Amino acid sequence: MDPIDDRPEKMKEFFDLRADSYDDHMAEYVSNYEGFYRAVAEPIPKTNKKIKLLNLGCGTGLELEYIFAKAPNALVTGIDLSQEMLDLLLDKYKNKAEQIEAIKGSYLDLDFKKEEYDYIVSVMSLHHFLPEVKLELYNKIWAALKPGGKYIEGDYVVTEDKEAEMLADYKEQLQENKVLNEDLFHLDIPFSIETQQGLFEKAGFTDFELIFEGDEAGVYFIKK
Ligand SMILES: C[S@@+](CC[C@H](N)C(=O)[O-])C[C@H]1O[C@@H](n2cnc3c(N)ncnc32)[C@H](O)[C@@H]1O
Repeated sequence: MDPIDDRPEKMKEFFDLRADSYDDHMAEYVSNYEGFYRAVAEPIPKTNKKIKLLNLGCGTGLELEYIFAKAPNALVTGIDLSQEMLDLLLDKYKNKAEQIEAIKGSYLDLDFKKEEYDYIVSVMSLHHFLPEVKLELYNKIWAALKPGGKYIEGDYVVTEDKEAEMLADYKEQLQENKVLNEDLFHLDIPFSIETQQGLFEKAGFTDFELIFEGDEAGVYFIKK
């Protein structure tokens, strides 16, 4: 077999192919789906203000349902690799078309405006990246938040043993060239709560809080 066929799927193609069934999949497989997504919006107080929010890996906009319920006039910039996911988001929120800017691209590569956002939100998207990649992104997030701005991250969490196992598998695939450093592949490397909190400390996020802890996912809230 051609070794290329053996590679994990590329991130963009993975989500493009599954966009149509994505919402149903999440509703079925994310344990305590309602509790998790409600927790993502929890730090946002009810407001009619045009708060500025950057949504990294916005997908089809699952978290936006809960965010718009709190802040119906929020101005949202959503970044995602997958046009198919973005198209579904834009269709879902067509009554808010003027409030949404959908950008197709990688949040790892794109520049963010400095001190622009009241909130930056990333949900179920960062568990594909190594600690050093996340740290670099955290620096960009920090610079893009207004003073007093908030960062909310919701993602899968695993035990420390499971994390070590998944990271070792990821690194093996890197070594075997199944995963290439210069490309984004769909591989899961979620962190334990301990590792994630250590990473926030390393990023200089002094004020962070775990505001939701489910069986398989957590939500963190960080104030600038
Ligand atoms: C599991 S989905 C989560 C979507 C949405 N946030 C939610 O909770 O339903 C992960 C999303 O992150 C996007 N993604 C992954 N890596 C990305 C990157 N580097 N830049 C932009 N989007 C990315 C994928 O295309 C996908 O739509």
